[in-house]
Amino acid sequence: MTKGFSKLAGYKVLAFDKISSTQTYAHDLIASGGARDHTAIIAQAQYAGRGRYRRTWVSHHGNLYVSFIFDAETRDSRLAYAVAVAIVDTLLSFGVSSEIKWPNDILIDGKKIAGVLIEYSGPFVIVGIGINVGTNPTVAEHKTTKLDNYVKVELMDLFDALAKNLDKWMKADFQDVRKQWMAAATGLNKQVKYRGEMVELVGINDAGALVVRRNGEYVLIHGDEIFM
Ligand code: BTN
Repeated sequence: MTKGFSKLAGYKVLAFDKISSTQTYAHDLIASGGARDHTAIIAQAQYAGRGRYRRTWVSHHGNLYVSFIFDAETRDSRLAYAVAVAIVDTLLSFGVSSEIKWPNDILIDGKKIAGVLIEYSGPFVIVGIGINVGTNPTVAEHKTTKLDNYVKVELMDLFDALAKNLDKWMKADFQDVRKQWMAAATGLNKQVKYRGEMVELVGINDAGALVVRRNGEYVLIHGDEIFM
C-alpha cells in the first residue's frame, strides 16, 4: 500500500501502487467482511483493469483508478447519472467542460476521458471510476483523450474533488441530477442506433430510464448500449 493520498473526511482511503483492479479488490474486501460505507480503493496502475461489457480498462501509471464502496439498500439505476454528473462537475472545477454519453461515459471533444463501472455486491455498491489524466490508451471502440491535454491536475486533488462531488450528487434530489445530466448529455434530440434501429434520443425519466422515440412512440431503455 502506498502513502500520499489524502485522508478525506468521511472516507477510508486504501491506496496502492499497482494491483489487479481496484474493483476486484473492492469485491474481495466485501467478501472478506472488511468493507464499510465510504471506502475508496485507489491504485496508481492496474494490470487487470475492468471496463463495462467485460471489456479491459487499460490502466498504465499516470491516471486515476478508484473504486468507491457505498452502502446500498437496493439497486438504483439513478446512481449512474449522479456519478456521471459528479465527474462532469469535478472536471469543471478544474476549468474543463465535458459531456456525458449515456449512461455515464465522459467525453471531451467527442473523445472518452473517463468511464464508470457500477457493480453491486451484498449490501454495498462499488462505483469504479477511471479518469485518463497523464495517458490515454488507444482502444478499438472509441477515441480517447486525457486531462493533461487541457489542464495539469495532481491526481490527489482530482481524487479529493471527485470524492466530494460524489457525496454531493449521490445525496442530491434526482430532479437536480436529471437537470444537470440533461444539460451535459451529448446526442439529445439526435438519431442514435439502438438494437440495430435508428431512434431519437429524448432524455431520461424520473426513474432513470433512457427515453427514446421510435417511429413516433416513446420507448424506455434500461441498461442497453446505444451507438452514436
Ligand atoms: C468503462 O468501461 O467505461 C468503465 C471503466 C471503469 C474503469 C475503472 S478504473 C477503476 C475501477 N477498477 C477497474 O478495474 N475498473 C474501474
